[in-house]
Formats: sequence, C-alpha cells, structure tokens
Amino acid sequence: QYYHVFLGRLSLVPILIISLTGTYLSLVKFNIFPEKKIELKAPARANQEEEPEQKQVATFASFKTIKLKDIRSVDFPFADDPDEYYKIKLTDRELMVNQFDGTIVASAQYPMVNILNTLSLNLHTGKTSTIWAIVLTLATINILFFIYSGFVITLRRRRNKIKNKYNITEAEYLLLVASENGSTIHFANHILTQLLSHGEKAHLAELNDFQLSENTQQLLIFASTFGLGDAPTNGNNFLNKLEETDSHRAIEYTIIGFGSTNYPDFCGYAKRIEEEIKTKEWATPLLPLYKVNDRSLTDFVEWVKAYSDIIHLPLITSPNYYAEINQRKLYSFTVADISATNEGDKNFMLTLTPSGNVDFSSGDLLAIYPENNEKERLYSIGKSGKNVRLVVKLHEQGLGSSYLNNLKKGDTIKAAIQSNNGFHLDKKQTPTILVSNGTGIAPFLGMLEENKDAPISVYAGFRNKEPLQLTIEQQLAAAKNNGKLKDYTIAYSRDADISHKYVYELVEKDIVKITQILDNGGVLMICGAIAMHKEVVGKLQQNCPNFELYQSNNQIRSDCY
Ligand SMILES: Cc1cc2nc3c(=O)[nH]c(=O)nc-3n(C[C@H](O)[C@H](O)[C@H](O)COP(=O)(O)OP(=O)(O)OC[C@H]3O[C@@H](n4cnc5c(N)ncnc54)[C@H](O)[C@@H]3O)c2cc1C
Ligand SMILES: Cc1cc2nc3c(=O)[nH]c(=O)nc-3n(C[C@H](O)[C@H](O)[C@H](O)COP(=O)(O)O)c2cc1C
Repeated sequence: QYYHVFLGRLSLVPILIISLTGTYLSLVKFNIFPEKKIELKAPARANQEEEPEQKQVATFASFKTIKLKDIRSVDFPFADDPDEYYKIKLTDRELMVNQFDGTIVASAQYPMVNILNTLSLNLHTGKTSTIWAIVLTLATINILFFIYSGFVITLRRRRNKIKNKYNITEAEYLLLVASENGSTIHFANHILTQLLSHGEKAHLAELNDFQLSENTQQLLIFASTFGLGDAPTNGNNFLNKLEETDSHRAIEYTIIGFGSTNYPDFCGYAKRIEEEIKTKEWATPLLPLYKVNDRSLTDFVEWVKAYSDIIHLPLITSPNYYAEINQRKLYSFTVADISATNEGDKNFMLTLTPSGNVDFSSGDLLAIYPENNEKERLYSIGKSGKNVRLVVKLHEQGLGSSYLNNLKKGDTIKAAIQSNNGFHLDKKQTPTILVSNGTGIAPFLGMLEENKDAPISVYAGFRNKEPLQLTIEQQLAAAKNNGKLKDYTIAYSRDADISHKYVYELVEKDIVKITQILDNGGVLMICGAIAMHKEVVGKLQQNCPNFELYQSNNQIRSDCY
C-alpha cells in the first residue's frame, strides 16, 4: 500500500505523459486527427539549357543554419540532374534544396497535427532520448506493480467487512474504526468477536458514525492515518461530531493508532483524536495512546494485553490470532493416530502426517477451517519426526474441536501451517524452561524431540492423571532418559495426593533456580491458557528483580489462548 502510493507519486508525470500521448496516437491511427501529407514542388527552372555550376556542399548557406538535432530525414539527389533536389524533413517543416548551389527552392511548415504526432511518438516511445527511455521503462514497470498492488488492496477492503450483532444504541462497548483500506477493521473485528464471545454487548461502527447512547460505557477508537497526518475518509467528520457531543456521565476510552513510521507524522490522526477527546469532561482515558506500526501484530498485542488486564476479560494475546488469513496455503494431512478422549479434561492427542514436504517447527500453529464457518481455529503443534502433533480440548458444541475429535485414523484433512517464529526453541544451546498447562504441552513435546544439547526443564500442569497424561508422562520420562530433557515436574490440580496443584505454584517453588537461569541468559516459554500465563508472569514479576530486562531481551516467550 505504501509503495503503491509512493511509486504512484514518483511516476505520476511519466505515466500521465504515456497515457496522453498514447491516446493521441490512437486518435491519429483511427483517423480522428488525420496526418496531413506535404507535397513540395520545385518551381520551374529559369534557364533550362544552362548546366549549373556545382558549388562546395560545405559552403551551402542553407545547410549551415540547419541543426543536426532538427533533422528527421534527408533524401539525397538521385543523380546530378538539376531536377533532383535534397529533400530534408525537419521537425517542424520540409525543405527542397538545390543540389548545386544550396538555395532553398521550396519549403512548407508542417500542420500542427503532424508536429503533435511526431512529439507524441517520441514521448511515447522514448525514441529520441536515452534518459527519457529509461524513465519510461521504470514507469512501465511501476504500472505492472500497480496492477498487482491494486488487486491486493481491493481484496483486503472486500475481506474486512463489519459484522454486528447489537445495534449502536444497545451496545456498551462502542468500537469505532477509521480505516481507508480495511486493515484496521480486521483488527477491530477480532476484538469485537472476542467481546461478544464473552457475552458483552459491543458494536463496531465507522468513526464518522460516532454517537453516544444511554448504554455506551466505553469507546475503543481504532484510527489509521492517511495523507500526511490526516483522517481516512470514513473518519474525517469525527472531530466535528466530537466537539458537538456531550454526556452527563463519564465514558471511558482507549485509542489505538494505526500508521507507519515511513511517514513523518506517525499516527498523526490518532494523536489529534487524543488531544481533542482529552478536552472533554465526560471522557476518561483507560490507557495511554497505543501506536501500531505497519499493522505490526506485536505492537497490537501490546495494547490487547494492557486492555485485557484493565477490563478483566481474557483477550487472546497471541499475535498470530490477529494475522490476516490472506491466501494461506492449504496442505493435506492424513490422521496417523488419534488418542481416546479423556473423560475429565476432554483432551485428546492427534498425530497428522503431511502428504508432501511441509516445512514447520515445534511451536508453529496449525490452522483449520471447519465447514460452514469462516473463522479459522489455531492449534499449537509439536513436530514428531515429520508428523504434526497436537493436543486438543474438545469443547461441547465447539465446531473446530469436534471436527478434529470426529476424525478416524486414515482420514485426510486440509489445514494450513502458520509459522510462529517467536515461539521456537533457540538454535543455540540456550538453557530453557518450558511451562505449560493442559493442551499447551503439545509444542513442548515436539521441542524435546528437536532438542540437541540445550538443558531444558519442563513444568506442566494438568487436571487429573488420565490416560493421555500417562502417555505424556511416559514421553517426558523417555526424553529425560535419552538426555533431551534435564528435569520435569507436573502439577495435577484435581489430584488429592499432590501438594502443588497448579503449574504457577511449581514455578514459584523453583523461583530461585529459574531466576538464575534467566539471569544467565536462559529463556522461559509459556504455552496454554491465558489465565495460567497471567499467574506465571505474576510470580516472575513479584520475585525476579530483573523481570523487565528478561522481557525486553525476549527471554519470556508465550503462546497462550
Ligand atoms: C494461538 C492459539 C493457539 C491455540 N492452541 C490450541 C491448542 O493447542 N489446543 C486447543 O485445544 N486449542 C487451542 N486453541 C484454541 C482453538 O483455536 C479453538 O479456539 C478451540 O479449539 C475452540 O474452538 P471450537 O471451534 O471447538 O469452538 P467454537 O465453535 O469456536 O466455540 C467456542 C466456544 O463456544 C462454545 N459454543 C459454541 N457454540 C455454542 C452454542 N451454540 N451454545 C453454547 N456454547 C457454544 C463452545 O463450547 C466453545 O467453548 C488455540 C488458540 C489460539 C488463538
Ligand atoms: C497514502 C497514504 C498515506 C499515509 N499517511 C500516513 C501518515 O501520515 N502517518 C502515518 O502514521 N501513517 C500513514 N499511512 C499508513 C497507514 O495509516 C497504515 O498503512 C494503516 O495501517 C492503514 O490502515 P487501513 O488499511 O485500515 O486504512 C499512510 C498510508 C497511505 C497509503
């Protein structure tokens, strides 16, 4: 999108010239502006009998005044016959020149049509100037790029439509979007879906449709910036509306700016909104202004985390959840194995064999698309040999999990792999702590298989010791035996015999050891429920003085849902 506009500005003049001259040449071709032919006639010679004397061509006065650059063509006299002349075509006229003394015997100015025709041809083809020919070549390559980028932008606009369940007057959460090309709507839609799934009344509208109702409690403003610090078209009237709006109650708001640091006024419009809304007595900020550069999922998730904490609703903080589906490549997978489903936690393990060569690592995600439903479901995967292995919790009435649960050995499914580069095992032998609960163990089992020499400790939490947990324990024990795993501890929350029930309690118990590993550059990876993530991170925050440093060094990595 950025290059669509940037290159568009740069090649505007050449493209305009190409199209104008092209149009003109077509009109000439179809005889709408017919080119006029010039027939020069030499006057009758005075003295037919006398043989003219041949002067030096170099001394011809007429030739001395003609510049080479103005000459289009020269027809030389066929023989030294006085009736044969030089016929010279210049850019603006034609001449007939006596071959003996150089006098111009006839001359005619081209009509305007012919001059324009020549000019158009030269400008359109770059015939007369190498530099102009290069400019034209670059402009033509740009045209091909615009065809591609224009398609991509249109597809994105069409994909990101607003889907509402409650109308604007019923909603407590009013999500407002200012977007030119639809990508910001995509982010807002993902927040809308989650608020609705938590039973909240939310409505998503364009920023220009802003209005407060008796029920509005929170404004979530997703504002991109266009032009140079300006509002997108569907948000350009908001500030006027805001000025006229009053409320007798306090209304909370949060603003997320979408923009690009390629522009001098990064998130300029979001900043203007913030300045204006601050002046309203009824408006209470929930958070500072968050800025998202070039649709960065990581930037956006920063806001999601902060917002999720403040409203006490678990929102998905895995960046991949907010990725656009784009044209994800679907592969065929055959079910190699599917375990029985646990009675208690309803978890089961699924092993899939890809039909061809599929490149993935433990920690990546498998995306499936249940029929009659456009929402994709993501599952954290481990790599076992060339197989994909995942642990799924069966949700009653859950479309995706039921679909996977109903598979039989030998069935085939179509699914995409979404790489999750921030959640892979380090290539170096970095000491690593893996913390999971429930289904979150799947990528870690794969990482243990992939591990070469890194000292790894696993902390896993489950509900009961059920058949699947026994299989997992066996795999952990085997990994420890063959040196892939240093140590592991498991917490069972519903098991009466075990004192430490939750995985965060295991982390707290070993906090001295864990802090040492992190202080020495180790990595801690968390996979599983968002609630568990919060507890574990809470324990680290409380106990590790260098917690902030670990975070900024990317030593704490998570894939939670
Ligand atoms: C990054 C990421 C990684 C993930 N990794 C895993 C993983 O490794 N393992 C795993 O199991 N999950 C994982 N998930 C969650 C997974 O993507 C799905 O969200 C989960 O399987 C539920 O999907 P579903 O289609 O079964 O349920 P949905 O059809 O999406 O339904 C969602 C919920 O609504 C309930 N529901 C649906 N319809 C009704 C109805 N009519 N009445 C009442 N309730 C209803 C369902 O019971 C379910 O609880 C991950 C998610 C993300 C974002
Ligand atoms: C023509 C144009 C002008 C832009 N001007 C700015 C700008 O001034 N400041 C900024 O931060 N981002 C600017 N951007 C970047 C967009 O705000 C950013 O790509 C945003 O994610 C687009 O969101 P949308 O797809 O919802 O419209 C500009 C983008 C385009 C195409």
